[in-house]
Amino acid sequence: MIIGQGAEAVLKHEDGVLVKDRIVKKYRIKEIDDKIRKLRTRSETKLLEKASKVIPIPKVLDSNDKTMQIHMEFIDGKKLSEYLDSINDKERETLLKIIGNQTALLHNENIIHGDLTTSNMILKDEKIYFIDFGLGFFSIKNEDKAVDIHLFKQALESKHYTHFEKSYENFLKGYKEKSTNYNEIIKQLEKVEKRGRYKGKNEI
Ligand SMILES: Nc1ncnc2c1ncn2[C@@H]1O[C@H](COP(=O)(O)OP(=O)(O)O)[C@@H](O)[C@H]1O
Ligand SMILES: [Mg+2]
Repeated sequence: MIIGQGAEAVLKHEDGVLVKDRIVKKYRIKEIDDKIRKLRTRSETKLLEKASKVIPIPKVLDSNDKTMQIHMEFIDGKKLSEYLDSINDKERETLLKIIGNQTALLHNENIIHGDLTTSNMILKDEKIYFIDFGLGFFSIKNEDKAVDIHLFKQALESKHYTHFEKSYENFLKGYKEKSTNYNEIIKQLEKVEKRGRYKGKNEI
């Protein structure tokens, strides 16, 4: 059964297995398209495998850079984007702290998720699985970690605005608990956000 079709991939669910199929882009020259899809399939697999050592991640069952498919465990849970606004404050606080913890654990391993939003998180058995490392990469730079945090902040602000302030505060609390470089990354985050504002002004 097809459960999703993004810009890059088609996602199918078959008997507890999620198949992520990187689709052909007709507008790209075939040789280049093949190369890009192959690289992204490999890169996402590597990130999923590394990340699974520190946080809950769907298990990779098979990755094939000839068919450009990744087979992984299907996480039969609740998508956080659809769940977060329907729960009480206490539970939301707990979940945001866990997300903060897990983001820091990824960053400690120099894994940048690249698309941190609540639609890329699934809650199951009180664990939050991070999915979709399609835009992820490895980096030791505080700048890249700060941008990851900033993107999550923006996602909270736009999708979960009712509880935004408290949610972001709890996320940062969780991040601080586990981060090995909190102060430097937050300093960089302030720079990222200032730059964002200047950019906005320049555009007017
Ligand atoms: N391992 C998984 N288990 C359960 N659902 C998944 C899994 N991977 C992806 N999904 C579902 O498919 C959707 C799209 O997958 P995702 O990897 O985020 O691709 P896209 O690049 O299209 O956003 C997710 O939002 C989620 O609902
Ligand atoms: Mg996604």
